[in-house]
Amino acid sequence: MDIKSKLAPLVGELFTNGKGSGMSRAVSKKERAAREFRENLQVYQCPICSSAFLAKEGGIQCGSGHFFNLARKGYLNLLMGAPSTHYSKDLFSARKNAFAHGIYDPLVDQVAALVEASGLQRPYGVDAGCGEGSFLARIQRHLAGARLIGIDISRDGIQLASTHEQPIMWCVADLAELPLAAGSMDIVFNILSPANYDEFRRVLKPDGILIKVLPGEEYLREIRLQLEGIHSYSNQEVVAKLRENLEIQRHVHLRYQVPLSMELWQLVIEMTPLTWHRQPGAVPPSDLTLDLELIEARCV
Ligand SMILES: C[S@@+](CC[C@H](N)C(=O)[O-])C[C@H]1O[C@@H](n2cnc3c(N)ncnc32)[C@H](O)[C@@H]1O
Ligand SMILES: [Zn+2]
Repeated sequence: MDIKSKLAPLVGELFTNGKGSGMSRAVSKKERAAREFRENLQVYQCPICSSAFLAKEGGIQCGSGHFFNLARKGYLNLLMGAPSTHYSKDLFSARKNAFAHGIYDPLVDQVAALVEASGLQRPYGVDAGCGEGSFLARIQRHLAGARLIGIDISRDGIQLASTHEQPIMWCVADLAELPLAAGSMDIVFNILSPANYDEFRRVLKPDGILIKVLPGEEYLREIRLQLEGIHSYSNQEVVAKLRENLEIQRHVHLRYQVPLSMELWQLVIEMTPLTWHRQPGAVPPSDLTLDLELIEARCV
């Protein structure tokens, strides 16, 4: 197949900006993203009026005429009003680097194992509160054929997420008003982020699953120890709230330590809201504790 016939179905007519359609041009990030959104538009709904979308030049538009722009970097901005988040570009960038050091690799493997055990085929999955997208980008490598959507309220987070190479649909949106159709998702991932269980239940298919990851008692204990002189934290209220809304199927405790270099310690300090008000010491402890709880839950 020559390059022109390869490109034609990818680019299509919708979404393109009409510029630079030279045959030898590589498919741009925006065009690739446009194709992903266009092929999966049925799972989205307008965050203003809940009606379905159609692909339009430069973005998508609902039946009532609400138009949302596809950014040049290949993400959709579906947020109504100003974002409310304290997470900075620097935090997201440190988080991305910390992921690249592998500190969450055991978590990614464990979540992938849960999804594989669920037997869902080519699942639709949304990561609600995906931040800079490293978790979803890594999970994508484990889930052949999955159609994945990353949603975060922070444009800085999603801009960084859209630099990942994986074919993931990135959206700036509020997880309390997911721009997704009812019963459209097989999996909702909710990783170390706030939850909205009404929305999660609305978008999940009847046999869909929520995978929530929350800090365990000793998550980043070395940082807590230095800042607060205490090393534990209770997640009981968070678990109780989840239990009120969905039925817990599996509850996995994952605890491991990673050796800390000076560089990694700096990244960890920058990547967590724990250090927003106080800074721990510059000299790293020898190890960092990652204590995480993974909960798989279903709608009842
Ligand atoms: C601790 S970060 C975790 C990010 C990512 N899941 C990770 O593990 O790297 C919490 C994330 O939740 C996002 N967030 C907070 N409120 C949100 C909302 N209402 N809708 C969407 N995202 C939200 C923040 O912008 C931030 O990226
Ligand atoms: Zn609308």
